[in-house]
Amino acid sequence: MRIILYLGKGGVGKTTVSASTATAIARGGKRVLIMSTDVAHSLADALGAELSSTPLEVEKNLFAMEVNVLAEIRENWTELYSYFSSILMHDGANEIVAEELAIVPGMEEMISLRYIWKAAKSGLYDAVVVDAAPTGETMRLLGMPESYGWYSEKIGGWHSKAIGFAAPLLSKFMPKKNIFKLMPEVNEHMKELHAMLQDQSITTFRVVLNPENMVIKEALRVQTYLNLFGYKLDAAVVNKILPSSSNDQYLQSLIDMQAKYLRVIENCFYPVPIFRAKQSSKEVIAPDSLYELSKELFNGANPIDVLYSNDKTQTLEKINGKYVLSLYLPNVEVEKLAVNIKGDELLVDINNFRKSIILPNVLVGRKTEGADFEQGTLNITFTN
Ligand SMILES: Nc1ncnc2c1ncn2[C@@H]1O[C@H](COP(=O)(O)OP(=O)(O)OP(=O)(O)O)[C@@H](O)[C@H]1O
Ligand SMILES: [Mg+2]
Repeated sequence: MRIILYLGKGGVGKTTVSASTATAIARGGKRVLIMSTDVAHSLADALGAELSSTPLEVEKNLFAMEVNVLAEIRENWTELYSYFSSILMHDGANEIVAEELAIVPGMEEMISLRYIWKAAKSGLYDAVVVDAAPTGETMRLLGMPESYGWYSEKIGGWHSKAIGFAAPLLSKFMPKKNIFKLMPEVNEHMKELHAMLQDQSITTFRVVLNPENMVIKEALRVQTYLNLFGYKLDAAVVNKILPSSSNDQYLQSLIDMQAKYLRVIENCFYPVPIFRAKQSSKEVIAPDSLYELSKELFNGANPIDVLYSNDKTQTLEKINGKYVLSLYLPNVEVEKLAVNIKGDELLVDINNFRKSIILPNVLVGRKTEGADFEQGTLNITFTN
């Protein structure tokens, strides 16, 4: 069983590449479910099929669904929801404000993750492909399994406090089913899912990007945060590449700019493999064209496979009270090395090759204290 998650900035082609991957896996004879956790659904448009939260078999072996998180909260979690809004109203909040606040932080993410967990555990599929929302929301989603324990403890705490202070008043609002009994169960699912997401033989994270400056920065941020959560990238997918030359001057200048950023991408993601897809002159919609795109993109590789695996690509550790960022750069001979910080960006110049890394918040504003290169790994120490 494999879980494949595509991440990246808005509009880069996450939905198209996810749907293309799923189509290739299905046509390769494996059962695959593609699931969209984005509130702004476009998976249905990409597949040319009407989707709901029940998996639909779009073609042989290719199942697709769109999770509607807000509807799910209204339908299945109303008890928890009305219970919290009652507590908030009792504490003096206005009714509408109370309803808005009662969406427990992280609840949307938790529901999306439960769908992934359910699909992965169902035994019905060889692969689950997740078409996620743009970076920020997805990073919250991926950080959720770790923070869920904290949330559930907090909620349990509110519950006992509310019971203690206002039992008679609250009794009529008490949920019929005991949702607090469900909390530890969900906690177990989250722990299980977390272990699955961190297991590189099960879960694969891929970043989708275009050869453009801001998009690259966002993709590097994705890589940094994935590494921080202990999730590893197995490929970078560069989408919407223009043809190699043109007689049109305007188009040629765009092509030249893309060529420059393609080199930046190669340096920045090394040693993670890069897969490329051209900007198509037609819309990439429905399984046949998605399958065509997958052939160009994966170029003989099988998208269900783990395309790259290494624990050490980028790690952040605290050693003797100091943060040490380590980057794995195999087969690089270091003659000249310079490390500079520009805002939240770390620029590493090795010989004539520049790699840039977006620093996690914990390192922003710190200075570097030293850098050494040992057995193919560059270790950078930061001041406290
Ligand atoms: N290789 C390609 N060639 C031509 N058009 C493409 C290609 N890849 C994606 N597109 C088009 O670009 C648009 C954005 O793609 P898509 O919806 O897949 O991006 P996304 O990253 O999922 O966006 P969002 O962040 O909004 O979910 C769509 O209209 C899609 O059809
Ligand atoms: Mg999308």
